[in-house]
Amino acid sequence: MPQGIFFLHAQGYEVEVWAGAQPPTRDELLARTQGADALLCLLDDKIDADFLHQNPQLKVVSNYAVGYNNIDVAAATQLGIAVGNTPDVLTDATADLAFALLLAVARKVLDSHRTIGQNRWQGWEPMGHLGLDLRGKTLGIVGLGRIGQALAQRCHAAYDMDILYTAQSPKPEAEKRLKAKQVSFNELLRQSDVVSVHASYRPELAELFNKDAFEQMKPTAIFINTARGGFHNEQHLQEALQSGQLWGAGLDVTNPEPMRPDHPLLTMPNVVITPHIASATLETRSQMSYIAAQNIVFGLEKKPLVGFVNPGVWG
Ligand code: GLV
Ligand code: GLV
Repeated sequence: MPQGIFFLHAQGYEVEVWAGAQPPTRDELLARTQGADALLCLLDDKIDADFLHQNPQLKVVSNYAVGYNNIDVAAATQLGIAVGNTPDVLTDATADLAFALLLAVARKVLDSHRTIGQNRWQGWEPMGHLGLDLRGKTLGIVGLGRIGQALAQRCHAAYDMDILYTAQSPKPEAEKRLKAKQVSFNELLRQSDVVSVHASYRPELAELFNKDAFEQMKPTAIFINTARGGFHNEQHLQEALQSGQLWGAGLDVTNPEPMRPDHPLLTMPNVVITPHIASATLETRSQMSYIAAQNIVFGLEKKPLVGFVNPGVWG
């Protein structure tokens, strides 16, 4: 994230960058944060109450991500520490990856690719590699925020898909623009041909997608998760896919991360998995870097952060 680092240098700040190939251990991160005024961290860094209490001198914690479930925001607020994130700039990149996973699963792109290298391609088959059409199908969005709306817009525009959603509050503007309809979680599961998760992760939502949820979905349904791996029970997902209770799945996030390389889901023909790359484009990561750095500068100056998770922090 050089852009953000250049910006911080240009503003006259001293920047210490972790240069290890692997992320720092908790102890290393704790030790290196001692004495720092601000911390720019990644979504795998667990910034819990204990961590914050050991670094009460911090004025800003700036997450290089939109999601901030790795940070104990209440504890930070209590200590007067501003918390920043990087919303908006990664909305399109993330929706694009969800859309890419959806198409890859629906049209068996990855498995078809493998058949060639595995010498299983014997010629054109009238009934081989059959996928699913998306036109006119129903998309269920769990969490119709910025990213959920961006995926809904793609599916609505490209395939005239009907949009169902769950959200903490109704989204009248999106309902009008996308003809989206708010429904209960169970209704969304039962009626959708594609279910895609875009909510912010909270512990109460842990493994929302479990055996019970997968059982309610159509056997021709596709499950897409680009939000957080904690939203699904991976064993239950695997069983639902193996038993044909669910047609396919596209994941950019796994539970846990990283996924072990011999995980059975990785070789299943109806599954496509990417390693948490939804925001990984040159343009998006560079904008995230800049915003994460701006959050630090603004926070140290006690000005509103660009992505301000706890705007009430200074009272
Ligand atoms: C990525 O998962 C993010 O929250 O930015
Ligand atoms: C397929 O390649 C077709 O021509 O239908």
